[in-house]
Amino acid sequence: MQTPKTLDILITGAGRGIGLELARQLAARGHRVVGTARDARGLDTLRAAGLTAETLDVQSDASVAALAERRADAPLDVLVNNAGVGAWTSLDATTSAELLQLFDVNAVGPLRVSRAMLGPLRRSRGRMFHLTSKMGSIGDGPSGGSYAYRMSKAALNMASANLAADLRGAGIASIVLHPGWVQTDMGGRGAPLGVEACAAALVTLVETRGLESTGQFLNYDGRPIPW
Ligand SMILES: NC(=O)c1ccc[n+]([C@@H]2O[C@H](COP(=O)([O-])OP(=O)(O)OC[C@H]3O[C@@H](n4cnc5c(N)ncnc54)[C@H](OP(=O)(O)O)[C@@H]3O)[C@@H](O)[C@H]2O)c1
Repeated sequence: MQTPKTLDILITGAGRGIGLELARQLAARGHRVVGTARDARGLDTLRAAGLTAETLDVQSDASVAALAERRADAPLDVLVNNAGVGAWTSLDATTSAELLQLFDVNAVGPLRVSRAMLGPLRRSRGRMFHLTSKMGSIGDGPSGGSYAYRMSKAALNMASANLAADLRGAGIASIVLHPGWVQTDMGGRGAPLGVEACAAALVTLVETRGLESTGQFLNYDGRPIPW
């Protein structure tokens, strides 16, 4: 596939898993990629892969504000809100603390980062992609359990659709992507999709999808997913 232009891309939670592989593949295609991690291990992994590394904890207003200040004048075409946490707890075992923790990281986190990076995104009429999950789809038919994860991703889906409404006029796209069930620490070894194949599919979406897809919920292969 021809790459239309070299993009400036920021990916959160890129110290391992899907974020790291996506950062690697986008950089290999010539894009300028900044990966974020919240600790030294993640930052070292990014630097060892030849990527620019920034510190970011998406749960912290102060950390998000500090990143936005450091990158206020840097170009940004694409923001990938990838950082997320999982919990596969039954109805009986789910606690309020777990519900609030996952909501903070998976739903509030991407909104915090998106809002903080609006200055650079407005300059480029850029695009935001948020890594959601089919587990947050009501239309797909939930099979029970994992309340905190499902509810946090459903909330992220609403945040993205609402960002799309607010930002369409500014030429900024907001799209939620389901990466598939992927072999990472979160997805586990039994997942059907390898992280390289997942990232390759996401590269295509990041390079090609924009305002015509804003407000959509897309599978990694580009097919729409019911809300
Ligand atoms: N794997 C799947 O099957 C699957 C399916 C559907 C959706 N997804 C979504 O895809 C995204 C990536 O998943 P993955 O499988 O790559 O997960 P993963 O291997 O568990 O990696 C999660 C990443 O998010 C980071 N992170 C967690 N909390 C953070 C915080 N407060 N601030 C900043 N970074 C934080 C982690 O950083 P640390 O290393 O510091 O913990 C790590 O880099 C997630 O949003 C996930 O919900 C995954």
